[in-house]
Amino acid sequence: MNKQTFRNKNIVIGVTGGIACYKVLDLIKELRNNGADAHVIMTENSMHFVDIKDFEKASGNEVHTTLFHPKINYVEYIKKNKQIKHISLADIADLFLVCPATANIIGKIANGIADDLLSTSITATIAPVLICPAMNVKMWKNAIVQENVKKLKSLNYHFVEPEYGELACGYKGVGRLANLKGIIERVGLLLKQRNDLKGRKILVTAGATVEEIDPVRVITNKSSGKMGTGIAEQAFLRGADVFLLRGYNSIESNYNIKEEKFTTVHDLFDKIKKNIKKFGIVIHSAAVSDFAINNKQNKKIKSNKELHLELTPTTKIFERLKKLNKRIFLVGFKAEYNVSKNDLTNSAFNLLKSADADLVVANDVGKTNMGFDVDTNEVFVVDKNKNFLHIKLADKRIIADKILDVIVEKIK
Ligand SMILES: Cc1cc2nc3c(=O)[nH]c(=O)nc-3n(C[C@H](O)[C@H](O)[C@H](O)COP(=O)(O)O)c2cc1C
Repeated sequence: MNKQTFRNKNIVIGVTGGIACYKVLDLIKELRNNGADAHVIMTENSMHFVDIKDFEKASGNEVHTTLFHPKINYVEYIKKNKQIKHISLADIADLFLVCPATANIIGKIANGIADDLLSTSITATIAPVLICPAMNVKMWKNAIVQENVKKLKSLNYHFVEPEYGELACGYKGVGRLANLKGIIERVGLLLKQRNDLKGRKILVTAGATVEEIDPVRVITNKSSGKMGTGIAEQAFLRGADVFLLRGYNSIESNYNIKEEKFTTVHDLFDKIKKNIKKFGIVIHSAAVSDFAINNKQNKKIKSNKELHLELTPTTKIFERLKKLNKRIFLVGFKAEYNVSKNDLTNSAFNLLKSADADLVVANDVGKTNMGFDVDTNEVFVVDKNKNFLHIKLADKRIIADKILDVIVEKIK
């Protein structure tokens, strides 16, 4: 992660009462090494785990613990001072990090409860809030905790989910604080969301098409839509006006992104045609079937005899997009299976040429932890001059952001 991303950024860190508190001391040191300023708010319960002085030393700043000072008369105070701690902490934050986050603070944020310095400051901030839960596995799996997490995600709160492992309480399961490197990476990603796609209208397609054989059986592919939805989400967080065309069974976005679902290749193409004129950037990551069923049956086909399917080639949607709107910046995807780096980038470049595209992102879905239905990917972004950028194996959100970095650079 580029240190410039962190330089002089104010990160307000809310520490809550969990066993993982002590790990945050190292996290703060790393953030400061990268150039960030750390401002810590400790809940009363967190002080049972780590001494306030340790956080003062790690952050190099005063540590805040209370909303009210016992000796201040606030009616008099406010007449002379416009500085109220929870508002000034909320205002200086470039990013609010809650780490470790207890089930309690998650519940409070999700329900708008503001009854101490930390929860009140979070209520008052417009900075992105990144929550890193850590708790016992049963607490994490608790239906209300999960509902709260879901609600917060839908409201654009960010999470680094806890990991599986041995827990301090003696249990084994999901609940350990995520590894610090991953948290730092996520902090960096959020800081980078500088609204650099503000004012841009982006159409993203994601997920698999579905061709019906009969009312219950389909031909589809293994695409989960994670890569495309990840791109839509990162573009949305960077200020773009995003419209997502999402495969019927592909994963949902965590954010409030405008979307429509598609089923068949024909349906997807129809929806693209209806919308494409309104967009300046089109990122076509949907995995489109190369064939449709010719003899689709309206009744469920009996299973006791041999069946021959007649397949007919579908429209090469990607190659039609520039013809539908020649002003778009067009980005496509090329999936190959177990090929050399050379073959992969060559085949991406050939696709780019045939579609008159601006970029093609190539990945090898035959390799471990890449491509369909996994959270990670490794890609090559090929441009019109056949230059390519290699983005190493990483979470699809990170890959998405790096692809957007290339787009931002090219459309400047
Ligand atoms: C020894 C001990 C360890 C705890 N560890 C956790 C934890 O890891 N995660 C959690 O959500 N709660 C944990 N709790 C419970 C919280 O401390 C409790 O819910 C508290 O109200 C949280 O307050 P806060 O969110 O204001 O810091 C622990 C409690 C004790 C006594």
